[in-house]
Amino acid sequence: MTEADKNPKVNFPKHVAIIMDGNGRWATERGLERKDGHRAGAESIRPVIQRLGDHGVPVVTLFGFSTENWGRPQFEVDAIFRLSGHFIDQYLDELHNSEVRLQHLGQIDALPDWLVNKVEAAVEKTRPNSGMILNLAFNYGARAEIVHAVREVVERNIPTAEITESLFESFLQTTDLPPVDLLIRTGNSRRISNFLLWQVAYAEIYFSKLYWPDFGAEDVDNVLAEYAQTQRTFGLVPETMISSTEAR
Ligand code: IPE
Ligand code: IPE
Ligand code: MG
Repeated sequence: MTEADKNPKVNFPKHVAIIMDGNGRWATERGLERKDGHRAGAESIRPVIQRLGDHGVPVVTLFGFSTENWGRPQFEVDAIFRLSGHFIDQYLDELHNSEVRLQHLGQIDALPDWLVNKVEAAVEKTRPNSGMILNLAFNYGARAEIVHAVREVVERNIPTAEITESLFESFLQTTDLPPVDLLIRTGNSRRISNFLLWQVAYAEIYFSKLYWPDFGAEDVDNVLAEYAQTQRTFGLVPETMISSTEAR
């Protein structure tokens, strides 16, 4: 039984997205190489996912590599790819046994063939699972995703009057997922860095000062506790604030 099942009255996010930032600084501050930070960062993923699962969060999206990250030194890009492949090798069985369904978000074709094969095999293997959906945003950029959707709309000659928000959304890669309720960014920067721009329209945003390798299960508890206290109004006035005298 998850926390969400035990406490049906508490607000639990249906979709948590995480910008896992700060690996490089974590390493540099310890006199290590940036790739050691990425290795430590990969190790942070398991406990965080596990705790989000314990709380009953059904969809989690992790930002692992952005379209802009190609501009980093080639050896760092290679190290990130290698570590990501290693992460899949190491945890695929465990994730599969926990009923996790892996999905990929972003432009997979630009990645090296060996990594494409690994990701596609992991997605295929876990497709029948009924537990948490774990989206790996790898070579993902929100602007590229939006431009891709625009092209699809144009290529299909869809009449302008039929282009609604929900129609447009149907061309995004996240079309089958709920919108992001909670966005967490570690690494002490307050920015979105081209992540899920459409999908975070009404997300609660939590910026953590911790570097990603230092972010752990207790931090998940704290963020979810804060989220549970948040009143989400989506542009409306909360019921409790509407005075009966004003209404007359
Ligand atoms: C995030 O950590 C991981 C990726 C972008 C792949 P960084 O590598 O951006 O770490 P900092 O921000 O330089 O500390
Ligand atoms: C965002 O972090 C991308 C990922 C975490 C994968 P970056 O370090 O690349 O973003 P900026 O440079 O702070 O905007
Ligand atoms: Mg960074």
